Amino acid sequence: MNRVELHPGCGHETLRAWQADGPPAADRLVWPLFVTDRDDACEPIAAMPGQHRWGVGRLREALDGPVRNGLRAVLVFGVPGGAKDGRGSGADSPGSPAVRALAALREAYPGLLLIADVCLCAYTDHGHCGILQSDGTVDNEASVTRLAAVAAAYAAAGAHVVAPSDMMDNRVAAIRAALKTAGCGGTAILSYAAKFASCFYGPFRDAAQSRPAFGDRRAYQLPPAGRRLALRAVLRDVDEGADLVMVKPGGPYLDIVREVRDAVRVPVLAYQVSGEYAMLHHAAAAGAFDLRTAVLESLDGLHRAGAGAVITYFAPQALGWVR
Ligand code: PBG
Ligand code: ZN
Repeated sequence: MNRVELHPGCGHETLRAWQADGPPAADRLVWPLFVTDRDDACEPIAAMPGQHRWGVGRLREALDGPVRNGLRAVLVFGVPGGAKDGRGSGADSPGSPAVRALAALREAYPGLLLIADVCLCAYTDHGHCGILQSDGTVDNEASVTRLAAVAAAYAAAGAHVVAPSDMMDNRVAAIRAALKTAGCGGTAILSYAAKFASCFYGPFRDAAQSRPAFGDRRAYQLPPAGRRLALRAVLRDVDEGADLVMVKPGGPYLDIVREVRDAVRVPVLAYQVSGEYAMLHHAAAAGAFDLRTAVLESLDGLHRAGAGAVITYFAPQALGWVR
């Protein structure tokens, strides 16, 4: 029996807007937000000029302007300052910056769609996205159980959407079950479904302090040339109940965005990742082109390929540009 549900994907005004296709617009932009556990922080991220790690006490400073300019969605990443361990206990501890930020944002901005990134890599001492076995490979079952608990905690804290970025097998089904058990059955799941093992995440790993201590993520993220494997990943996640799916990175994978858009009926998001942000920023700073023109062209490309919404660090600036 197919138990896929439709209600979580249309429970919020922004999600309802994303069910229809449309050109780049302010309500189709998602801003990734890094939240640290130092409440009064506004730390510049060196690898991503113009982006900051924000303390929970300064979120209004970060968001009042963008929300006034039409920002409709944020993607929250917690950046813990404290001790890390093998199971990423800090991800859903009551003091976790993600948990506290979600609660604070829910209160401060009632209409804003809150998407919570769900992963363990910023919270584990080894920096991998799941729980490891003694030989250093991922323990998929233990990881999925843990990720589902973290997702339920973020939903309970106020996330409208939980977005697993870990790439463990079959975590969407486990998260759906955990959400129901926690009484959060209306929370939507945005799966990082076609997430490739990409060098374009480099600046992010500095921002989130989530660089693996050893090895890399190629045993669980997709091989960059693996077009058919990416399609299988997306179809599997939709089958497990993903309400929205993501292709990541965006620009180097426009063919995948288009193919996914044609293959599934859920909204497709594209993530213009940290390395794409850095490339555009530095090229414009070096005089290669005008930043505004280049960013708008990159957004046109992602939407032309089939993205219903785009996650981009340029969101605060682009809100004015797309209008
Ligand atoms: C963590 C995560 C990563 C990104 C989003 N969530 C990094 C990674 O997988 O190593 C990348 C985002 C970006 O580069 O902007 N699982
Ligand atoms: Zn991760």
